[in-house]
Amino acid sequence: MTKDIQFSYAKAVSAEAVMAYEQQVAKCQEMLVNGTGAGNDFLGWMNLPADIRPQLADIQATADLLRRECEVIVCIGIGGSYLGAKAVIDALSSSFAWLEGEKPAIVYAGQNIGEDYLYELQALLKNKKFGIISISKSGTTTEPALAFRLLKTQLEEQQGKAAAKDLIVCITDAKKGALRTLATQEGYKTFVIEDNIGGRFSVLSPVGLLPIACAGFDINALIDGAERMMKVCSSTTPFAENPAAQYAAARNYLYGEQGKKIELLVNYHPKLHFVSEWWKQLYGESEVKENKGIFPASVDFTTDLHSMGQYVQEGERHLFETVISVEESNYMVEFPHDEANLDGLNFLAGKRVDEVNKMAELGTMLAHIDGGVPNMKITLPKINEYYLGELIYFFERGCGISGYILGVNPFNQPGVEAYKKNMFALLDKPGYEAESAAIKARL
Ligand code: PA5
Repeated sequence: MTKDIQFSYAKAVSAEAVMAYEQQVAKCQEMLVNGTGAGNDFLGWMNLPADIRPQLADIQATADLLRRECEVIVCIGIGGSYLGAKAVIDALSSSFAWLEGEKPAIVYAGQNIGEDYLYELQALLKNKKFGIISISKSGTTTEPALAFRLLKTQLEEQQGKAAAKDLIVCITDAKKGALRTLATQEGYKTFVIEDNIGGRFSVLSPVGLLPIACAGFDINALIDGAERMMKVCSSTTPFAENPAAQYAAARNYLYGEQGKKIELLVNYHPKLHFVSEWWKQLYGESEVKENKGIFPASVDFTTDLHSMGQYVQEGERHLFETVISVEESNYMVEFPHDEANLDGLNFLAGKRVDEVNKMAELGTMLAHIDGGVPNMKITLPKINEYYLGELIYFFERGCGISGYILGVNPFNQPGVEAYKKNMFALLDKPGYEAESAAIKARL
């Protein structure tokens, strides 16, 4: 039988402290299952691993077509419309995919408004056969809309409008938004982001699955893992066996009772960097509102032990760590013996690099605990599609429960609107005349 990912709070919180949340977590699970909590119109992610199955063949066929036709595929999107795909693709790809000339190469746009970034991307795509996956639930987000206009224009210039049409796929709302209007008018292939799935909970929808399939990874295995975790973390699993329930309880205890305001998600495999970026969005946008909530931060160890390690060991004691520990590397590298031993490393001869990494992980955990940083651990048997699927659902379910424990609506993000309003006013967007005058008077 395949193992599951495991969660342990043993080095952070006592069992009594966590078990004390049992009733409260049961209520939160009930709110999620019965849709009786705040934001209950955004619970489509709960059964998504099962609900998405009928679409997998179409997603795969579309990916196969783009893979056949394109040297490069540009995924356009920001926030939840980009981070999940990037997290999974980076975790599964070779660290040097670019240099190895993997085709098609997956690149991203619309996740920033950097002029140099877009110039360099356009230069890269010049005379290359590329495709575009344009993703925006609202269909009106400025960053991806801007990138889409630029790249669509370039694609049409390079391929002609008719051929370009077959290389563009849009993923957006079924009816609303500029991207839907545009896709319908231009006749692009589209996938729908259901109304009840928020951006940061959409990685297991076409939003994440199409780019992941385009990168050549097994979306069926990803969904298998997610569906398995859906069962493991369900409301019918006893609290003592439910990893998402315990994670939600332990972090709320650390925050509420121990004053730990910052959670550091730690990895020891650089490929997981964007899993942390995805997690930060999931927890940051979901939980942190009404002037409360844990600040989600992340570090890549051992790299960041040589920078942030000082802060973690000796800084303010308002941190706890959640370590993603990978049991088995996908490859094996052994240290060679060296007769001269000038570097003094013969004590490592015959050992695997992963053994050294594991001892760094263990040593760091003990040092940080000694330094007053509680450590929780998520064990991934290995980095593959199945376990990433499990990890994604584990974090999503934990987030829903955790937000409800904290007493917020985990499914809205009112705080991200303020900058947009100011930006539109400053750019003289039609409809923002009053805001425009008011903001300019402040400058
Ligand atoms: O989680 C969210 O809802 C946001 O981060 C969105 O994903 C992000 O703002 C992009 O929105 P959209 O997909 O509408 O372009």
